[in-house]
Amino acid sequence: MKIIEARNYEDMSKKAASFIIEKVNGSSAPVLGLATGGTPLGTYRFLREDHLNNQTSYQHVYTVNLDEYVGLSPDDDNSYTFYMKKELFGHIDIPASHTHLPDGMAADLQGECRRYESLIERLGGVDLQLLGLGMNGHIGFNEPGTPFSSETHVVELTDSTRKANARYFDSLSSVPAQALTMGIATIMRSKQILLLVSGKKKAGILAKLLSEQPNEDIPASVLNMHQDVVIIADSDALSIVKERSMAF
Ligand code: F6R
Repeated sequence: MKIIEARNYEDMSKKAASFIIEKVNGSSAPVLGLATGGTPLGTYRFLREDHLNNQTSYQHVYTVNLDEYVGLSPDDDNSYTFYMKKELFGHIDIPASHTHLPDGMAADLQGECRRYESLIERLGGVDLQLLGLGMNGHIGFNEPGTPFSSETHVVELTDSTRKANARYFDSLSSVPAQALTMGIATIMRSKQILLLVSGKKKAGILAKLLSEQPNEDIPASVLNMHQDVVIIADSDALSIVKERSMAF
């Protein structure tokens, strides 16, 4: 596991964008696993700016997102499909047919999970998976207790995750109760993982993930078993780790 310290959120985002751009420029058909939420917003902004200023092309890039809410249509502005168009896909030259998210409107959700797994396999697997870190250690929507062997599945969102995400919705009651998410085994099959962590409020969970043996109560602790994980975290997020001088 490699840890890169960033000065602040902007610096973390810039470093993450450079990391992704290097992968995009360095491979003939890279498959990027993408995340939503607050953490990667700055990274996507830098990718948009770079596309505009340096014409980095995404015509050869394929993407698969981690997750999607159940029951939100792609044009619902709280769906992750909408988020990805708004924050990234709508501003770069990636063909729409190369971008993939689980279909939260599928009539057969179990079938959709199987389709998503086969799709990732057909693409040759994820080359670089971008991850954010949930306050309870979740990755994707894999909540504490999710088996490490899980593949793409339907998840009942915990109250804490629904509350954390309620900031984007009109009210807590409009936050969907379910989502589709890549499983932990799906994420672990990615060739490389880039975890972004920012802010004091994530310092405790980041310290936990770095100090504990992999266990299903802290889903992100599984990353200790992956051979190629890069964490870009800002000083605030690393504050407890540094206090205990765990990683430095
Ligand atoms: C998003 C996702 C989630 C978030 C996590 C952190 O696709 O799967 O695991 O990465 O909830 O969210 P933020 O970045 O909003 O703190």
